[in-house]
Amino acid sequence: MQEFADKVAFVTGAASGIGLGMVKAFLAEGMQVMMADIEEEVLKVAAAELESNAVSWVVCDVSDRSSVFDAAAATLAAYEKIHVVCNNAGVSTGGLIEECDEGDWNWTVGVNLLGVVHGCQAFVPTIKAQGEGGHIVNTASMAGLLARSPGWTPYNSTKYAVVGLTESLYEEGRLGGFGASVLCPGGVRTNITAAPRNRQARFGPQVSKVSYNDITEDIAKGLDPEIVGRLVVEAIRAERLHILTDPRFARLVQKRFERLADDFEWAANSQALTSTSSPGAAL
Ligand SMILES: NC(=O)c1ccc[n+]([C@@H]2O[C@H](COP(=O)([O-])OP(=O)(O)OC[C@H]3O[C@@H](n4cnc5c(N)ncnc54)[C@H](O)[C@@H]3O)[C@@H](O)[C@H]2O)c1
Repeated sequence: MQEFADKVAFVTGAASGIGLGMVKAFLAEGMQVMMADIEEEVLKVAAAELESNAVSWVVCDVSDRSSVFDAAAATLAAYEKIHVVCNNAGVSTGGLIEECDEGDWNWTVGVNLLGVVHGCQAFVPTIKAQGEGGHIVNTASMAGLLARSPGWTPYNSTKYAVVGLTESLYEEGRLGGFGASVLCPGGVRTNITAAPRNRQARFGPQVSKVSYNDITEDIAKGLDPEIVGRLVVEAIRAERLHILTDPRFARLVQKRFERLADDFEWAANSQALTSTSSPGAAL
């Protein structure tokens, strides 16, 4: 997608942080934007503060499939078309593996992973049917490329899944006439450490021993979300699959690949694989 003016964007988690940064960047490009979020009061205020006729808002819980489909219907009712979908709403939770209960897992998977699935399913058929191109941006994290810190297993697992989902979607888009990118931010100055404010009652109380202290400083010193929004616009135009906000992480990702390469080499020389002439499945 090269031309943004007069096109329509839908952004989840739009009331705060990175979502709001993307909304501002899309408005600056002359787009019409539907802001979706679970926090109604904050969403209303954020939309009003933009002082723009090109913006609307809809309350939406991305973990609830019908809520996302209702928000998609509201977007099409308001603007008739859809071109850019940002499945960005996310929550962070953690704790050691034995400390995270079923509610912790269901909440994190429900918002961070199924929220992305719901957004793609609600809009991709319309983007394809319109035949005007379009782009899906799914927000993962650097934690979707590197699982560095112990105790963030639910979060990291969902973010790796969003990377895998989007890499698959990118291939679908080559056939279906739309683009796809996965946003993998490093630290960004947002309200993410207050994520439990949005934990729905059905997932039960937060019992995991998450320590936001470990990440609070990184977040406070992080990038301005408005810069992330501008980067997203630039990356959509450049058709980048991975949108990376902190190039300093390249070295650590490279180390992960080196460890993988080392494991391949070890496997190739292992007793089990050298004892068979079968090379396995064809690539
Ligand atoms: N801030 C960072 O450093 C950072 C780094 C990597 C990835 N991320 C990812 O960026 C995304 C945006 O987070 P942020 O940092 O802007 O945090 P944020 O808390 O400022 O914004 C998240 C928004 O999502 C909304 N939300 C939460 N649950 C929701 C639900 N069920 N349905 C709809 N909306 C919901 C919140 O109300 C909030 O407005 C998340 O997916 C997060 O994992 C953030």
